[in-house]
Amino acid sequence: MRIAFIGGGNMARAIIAGLAATGFEGSSIAVKDHNTEKLEALQKDYGVCVYREDGAWISKADLVVLAVKPQGLAACLEGCARWIAPEATVLSIAAGVSTDTLRRRTGSGHIVRAMPNTPAMVRQGFTGLFAVPEATDTDRERAQTVMAAVGRCQWLDDEDAMHAVTAGPGSGVAYVFLFMQGLEEALLAQGLDADKARALTLATVRGASALADASDASFEELRARVTSKGGTTAKAIEAFEDAGLRRIIDTAAKACAARSREMAELFK
Ligand SMILES: NC(=O)c1ccc[n+]([C@@H]2O[C@H](COP(=O)([O-])OP(=O)(O)OC[C@H]3O[C@@H](n4cnc5c(N)ncnc54)[C@H](OP(=O)(O)O)[C@@H]3O)[C@@H](O)[C@H]2O)c1
Repeated sequence: MRIAFIGGGNMARAIIAGLAATGFEGSSIAVKDHNTEKLEALQKDYGVCVYREDGAWISKADLVVLAVKPQGLAACLEGCARWIAPEATVLSIAAGVSTDTLRRRTGSGHIVRAMPNTPAMVRQGFTGLFAVPEATDTDRERAQTVMAAVGRCQWLDDEDAMHAVTAGPGSGVAYVFLFMQGLEEALLAQGLDADKARALTLATVRGASALADASDASFEELRARVTSKGGTTAKAIEAFEDAGLRRIIDTAAKACAARSREMAELFK
C-alpha cells in the first residue's frame, strides 16, 4: 500500500512512526507540508518521500490521509482533491469534519473518518473509525491498517458517535491530565517534593488503569473495593461526591460533544 499524507504535523508524525514500528517501508509513504523543517525531519527519521506542493505524486497513493487542522481542510482539498486517484481511500483525521463534507469536497465515495487521540504518539492511542456506506472492505482494511499502527481501533456504525469519541478518548486524555495536575498539586501541598509528587501521581494513574484493564469489574466496583467504610479513601470519595465530581465530568463531556457538533457545522 502506498500512502500520501497531506499535512506532516504532530498526528501525521505519530502515525508514520507507528507504521515504521510495524515494519512499513518509509519509501511507500509520501508527505506534503508547508514546513520544510518538519518535512526534512520526517525524511531523516523515517525515509519518507516529501513534497511541498500538490501534484501527480498524490495520484500514486492507495490511501490519502488528510492530516491538516479542520479549519485548513477546505483550502487543502481545493489544491489536492483533483490529484486523488478514483479508487484511492481518503482517510480524514480532521476533528469535526463530516463525511458529507469530505464526500462533497473530494468527489470520492471511498471516505473513512478517524478520530485518534494523542496517546497515538506512544502507540497507546484509541481511534474511532467511521466509513461511508459506499466505502469498500478495502477502504476499511486500509484505514484500519494505518490507525492500528498507533493503538486500538473501534468501528462505529453511526457517524454521530464520533462526537462521543471526541468527548471520550479524544479530549478525555486532557481530563485525565487535569486530574493528574490536581493530584500532583495536592501531593506537593502534603509536603512531597516535585519529583516524588509527579512520580506518585503517574504511579497512581498507571496502576489504576492497569488494574481496571485486567479486571471485568465495573469502575464503581473497583472503586468500592478500595473504599472501606470509615476509612481514609471513604473520606476522599465523600469529598469528591459532595463537590459533584461526576456531575462536573458529565457537564464537561456534554460541552465537549456540543463543541464537536458546532465545529461540524463550521467546517462544512
Ligand atoms: N493532535 C491531536 O490530539 C488530534 C487528535 C485527533 C485528531 N486530530 C486531528 O488531526 C489533524 C492534525 O492535527 P495535528 O495536531 O497533527 O496538527 P498540526 O501539527 O498543526 O499539523 C498539521 C500540518 O499540516 C500543515 N498543513 C496545513 N495545510 C496544509 C496543506 N494544504 N497542505 C499541506 N500541509 C498543510 C500544517 O502546516 P502549517 O502549520 O504551516 O499550516 C501543519 O504542519 C487535525 O485535523 C486534528 O483535528 C488531532
